[in-house]
Amino acid sequence: MENRTWSSGLTFILAAVGAAVGLGNIWKFPYVAGVSGGGAFVLVYIVCVIFVAIPILIGELLIGRCGSGSPPVAMRKVAENSGRSAKWSIVGFMGMIVGYLIATYYSVIAGWTLVYIYKAANGFGGATALNVAQQFEDLKADPATMAIWHTVFMCLALVIVGRGLRNGIERVVKLLMPALFVMLVVMIGYAAVAGDFAAGLDFLFGVDFSKITGAVVLNAIGQAFFSISVAMGLMMVYGAYVPRNVSLTRSAIIIATADTVIALLAGLMIFPIVFANGLDPAEGPGLIFKTLPTAFVGMPGGAVFGALFFLLLAFAAVTSIIAIIEPIVAYAEDRWHMRRTMACVVFGILGWAIGMASVLSFNIWKGVTPLAVFDAFEGKTVYDLIDYFTANIMMPVGAILIALFVGWRMKPEMIEGDLSFSHPLLFKTWLWIMRVVAPLAILGILVSGLR
Ligand code: ALA
Repeated sequence: MENRTWSSGLTFILAAVGAAVGLGNIWKFPYVAGVSGGGAFVLVYIVCVIFVAIPILIGELLIGRCGSGSPPVAMRKVAENSGRSAKWSIVGFMGMIVGYLIATYYSVIAGWTLVYIYKAANGFGGATALNVAQQFEDLKADPATMAIWHTVFMCLALVIVGRGLRNGIERVVKLLMPALFVMLVVMIGYAAVAGDFAAGLDFLFGVDFSKITGAVVLNAIGQAFFSISVAMGLMMVYGAYVPRNVSLTRSAIIIATADTVIALLAGLMIFPIVFANGLDPAEGPGLIFKTLPTAFVGMPGGAVFGALFFLLLAFAAVTSIIAIIEPIVAYAEDRWHMRRTMACVVFGILGWAIGMASVLSFNIWKGVTPLAVFDAFEGKTVYDLIDYFTANIMMPVGAILIALFVGWRMKPEMIEGDLSFSHPLLFKTWLWIMRVVAPLAILGILVSGLR
């Protein structure tokens, strides 16, 4: 178990921002904003980040650092040290399993980005704006190609995680995160010159309050959890590696702010291009893979900037998937004293196999809907079910339990000793958000989402 602390506070921030910034920011945020009314959604999203996601993120990092271990181990230690039942480790298990399940399909979608780097650089094989969108449908209908790129991406992630914290994860984030930021700035410059920047700005920041509905709030909170990586186990494990002298509250604020700013910048990179080409911002999940290529094939420099865009997306996905896989690998080390490389092989093969079910869900198993006997799950493929259970049920339930545990069950001395709030009032506010506001808000959203 070598190197189980970050080499510095800055490296931790970089790795945690890398973990947070992923497909959620560049693929999901713009399309969810697009279908949820633009500025109205953005406003609700920012409120959810400040009042729910950041407080819970602080709690997760705190449990990780106090319990210094993989999520189940850390939860158990903190519970026992607070005189509570060791059964609280179930919350850690849940987070770890959520992350692991997400990793299985994350690799499939990240595989699409690898295919699209090549396609974009190649000018989409001479396709026109009228028929380029069809290439995404063709890709989804082709299990062999999807399986190959899912395998490539999964192997890449496992090699990095297998090399350990300092030699693997730290090295990669130090290289990819600055590169990602530079590419993002270049892409926004391109969108400003070649796209309709004013329309993009107006769409993202012009708030029409009448568009704030229950569904918009539901989308916003789910997206905030996914994007900041709350209740996925990974922030607990990243917190376990944080040196004592690093402020967790300040770190949580920096991580969530950076994640939100990058999501907004992703919007500013995409929507000007969408509007300049008269395309639909509410296209949905195909926004990146169908709508943007439609623009790229007709724009000056479209091949170069298109390839750069998908490369940026792949970098963001790499720094996230390694974090999503880390909790289960750390658990295998903690619990079974497995060697890291062996843990990567075992859980890599299993994760890859589960990921294959997602690959097939887009084609051969399109009609396979295992829970169709229940009305709520009618028409949902295996991929849809994994996505639904992790995002709509397990993450919100996990977040509620983390908030309640930290707020009501953790020893107050442990909390106050480890968190450095600049003012006692801020501490009290945070504590009551954890005790009451966050659990009730998430419960309300969870219940309305299940109806
Ligand atoms: N937080 C990661 C993302 O946004 C999972 O993609």
